[in-house]
Amino acid sequence: MLSANLVALCYLGASVLLILALKGLSSPESARRGNLYGVAGMALAVVVTLQLEVVQNYVWIAVAMAVGGLIGGVAARKVPMTHMPQTVAFMHSLVGLAAVLIAVSAFYNPIAYGIADASGGLRLASRIELFLGTFIGAITFTASLIAFGKLQGLLSGRPLVFTGQHWLNLALGLVMIGSGVVFCITQGWVPFLLMLAIALVLGVLLIVPIGGADMPVIVSMLNSYSGWAAAGIGFTLGNNMLIIAGALVGSSGAILSYIMCRAMNRSLLNVLLGGFGGETAAAGGPVRTDRPVKAGSAEDAAFLLKNARRVIIVPGYGLAVARAQHALKELVDRLVGLGVDVKFAIHPVAGRMPGHMNVLLAEADVPYDIVHEMDEINAEFADTDVAVVIGANDVTNPAARNDPSSPIYGMPVLDVAKAQHIIFIKRSLSPGYAGLDNELFYMDKTMMLFDDAKKACEAILQSLD
Ligand code: TAP
Repeated sequence: MLSANLVALCYLGASVLLILALKGLSSPESARRGNLYGVAGMALAVVVTLQLEVVQNYVWIAVAMAVGGLIGGVAARKVPMTHMPQTVAFMHSLVGLAAVLIAVSAFYNPIAYGIADASGGLRLASRIELFLGTFIGAITFTASLIAFGKLQGLLSGRPLVFTGQHWLNLALGLVMIGSGVVFCITQGWVPFLLMLAIALVLGVLLIVPIGGADMPVIVSMLNSYSGWAAAGIGFTLGNNMLIIAGALVGSSGAILSYIMCRAMNRSLLNVLLGGFGGETAAAGGPVRTDRPVKAGSAEDAAFLLKNARRVIIVPGYGLAVARAQHALKELVDRLVGLGVDVKFAIHPVAGRMPGHMNVLLAEADVPYDIVHEMDEINAEFADTDVAVVIGANDVTNPAARNDPSSPIYGMPVLDVAKAQHIIFIKRSLSPGYAGLDNELFYMDKTMMLFDDAKKACEAILQSLD
């Protein structure tokens, strides 16, 4: 068994590795390395924890690790990238559930957890930790399950709003905190269980008024909650590693939620309180489909592209759905071979989760140096012959700049309209996530290529031969 000092040193090493992992994950170039740091840090933390004196039953731990590892391994292989938000939401629910189960178990058995006072009851500090860990864990658990249901299509993605909703939530929140305070004073099981039950109900009530469009932000927010719940368990178990890892997840999730809200022009408070302050982004008006557009063929697109000097490609959610990244990479290679300067423009919320497009392009081995973030590349559209928008829509919508009545007004968008020509590859004139029509479809310089993204890329490539 390692000495207490050595355990602390190993935990410090593991914490540094987890911080390096977060740093690595901030860029596609270093993401693989970041992942490896994360795996190494977590492995070190688990191995060191397993040899602690408090760990006594290895059989159950081995069974749990084998079952969890198997499910995780299969899920990692099977779950498509487009289903990642709901998968993450489901995993957060398990963190919340773990926090609740540990808190309940510690409440009923304080001596085994080493949190008993001289009389065998709970120490005051531990009562406060249990209070925090239990309610954050319980809210995370049920809120994540509802988020999973909405994203998976098991529940309606529409916001469920009713009169007095926020007052009800406020009242329940106050009763929950009151019960927690009574529990901290009396150690009674009635206030403890009341607090737990209200927190479980609050988790549901806080998520039902949130519309599908805001759900990814909520998933990121729940990521943050699950981190704080884990930190809460860390206090209960007296484990510094869990406190640090939980705090890292908690704070990075909160920062990510803020960044996503900014990129979608939503206020974090507005998203969190769901339904407060009016519309959700998904509440766009009906789309008119009777306006004339210029439709073209793959041959027309190939002609435009091979005669262009500069081309900027704007990938979006449709690229991910069609799994068109490999076909697109072949097309790009061919154009580069023909002497065309090709770049990618990535909007911060293109797709359905942060970094979605970067991951897809990296998977197809698109070189990082031609992939540019919105702020870097927006000025270049004016000097671009052809902008090719593939399965993207909202992230190019000029209404975000020009139409103060639009739900996405103020959201930063890619300046596709400034290119000489625009090719839109999508299957129809259907709107994107925000449910809004896009003026770009109807511009003189726009050619609509109505097809599946993958088929279109393959057809254009063929026409280039
Ligand atoms: P969207 O605006 O959702 O547009 C995607 C387009 O892809 C649709 O108009 C659809 O049109 C087309 N499409 C679907 N399947 C296709 C296929 N197989 N082949 C070709 N096209 C296909 O996507 P976007 O521009 O990437 O914008 C992302 C949206 O998601 C934004 O509103 C953003 O706020 C929201 N959002 C993103 C995030 C993050 S973090 N990424 C988080 C929350 C919300 P057709 O049906 O006509 O083909």
